[in-house]
Amino acid sequence: MKLDVAFTPAGLTSAEVQGRTVFVIDILRATTTMCAALHHGAKAIIPVASAEEALRLAQTIGSADVLLAGERNAVRIPGFHLGNSPLEMTESAVRGKTLVVTTTNGTQALLAAQGAAAVYLAAAANLGVAADKAREVAEAPGGLLFLCAGRAGAFSLDDAYCAGRLVAATLGGTKPRRGLNDAAIASLDLVRRYGEGWERPLRYSRAGRELIRLGFHDDVLDAGRLDAYPAAAHFHERRVTLAPVPV
Ligand code: MLT
Repeated sequence: MKLDVAFTPAGLTSAEVQGRTVFVIDILRATTTMCAALHHGAKAIIPVASAEEALRLAQTIGSADVLLAGERNAVRIPGFHLGNSPLEMTESAVRGKTLVVTTTNGTQALLAAQGAAAVYLAAAANLGVAADKAREVAEAPGGLLFLCAGRAGAFSLDDAYCAGRLVAATLGGTKPRRGLNDAAIASLDLVRRYGEGWERPLRYSRAGRELIRLGFHDDVLDAGRLDAYPAAAHFHERRVTLAPVPV
């Protein structure tokens, strides 16, 4: 089993994602928010790099069922319908809608994973289904990459802890060090340090402290609710949708 963690997409080459199954993690808040949207009936989410691209794409699609969502500096982009809070993704707001989304780090990590054999989203909110999928494909050629969105190209505690929880869940009872890269071993050490509670790694992280300072304390709590939005979120052909159920 080859099981790697990348603490940031910065410097990741297409050769490093090609042929692998990638799980993109941005627990505060992009992957949590996207899982909440899909869980509450959004049809699809299209991640894009910039607000300008989001506006252009929404115009091209030209449907009343398209909503613009996202943030810069944690705050909703002016003129957009929604920000990047999982608490905004209620059924009445998103059911049947296609969301065009741009965020500071999360959507960039998703775009960096394009070209992989398969890309899934992961957060505490869908940890159970993400871990089931990781175990299912763990022996596939190319192996697994848990890709943390990080923060401005650097390590973030919240994503790294979440990666550790996924590594631990994928390994189950077995603890093989062979096949894990150094970042995967370090992420497991974070799980030993913080245990099974999400509150400390989320609140102690710089992203968590910044969100609390800006008044998004409830979002930080929500992001730590295990399996709150159990969406098997799959990124394929530029869209995040619920993964097809095997027949
Ligand atoms: C990100 O992509 O870095 C996050 O969306 C930041 C945030 O939650 O505000």
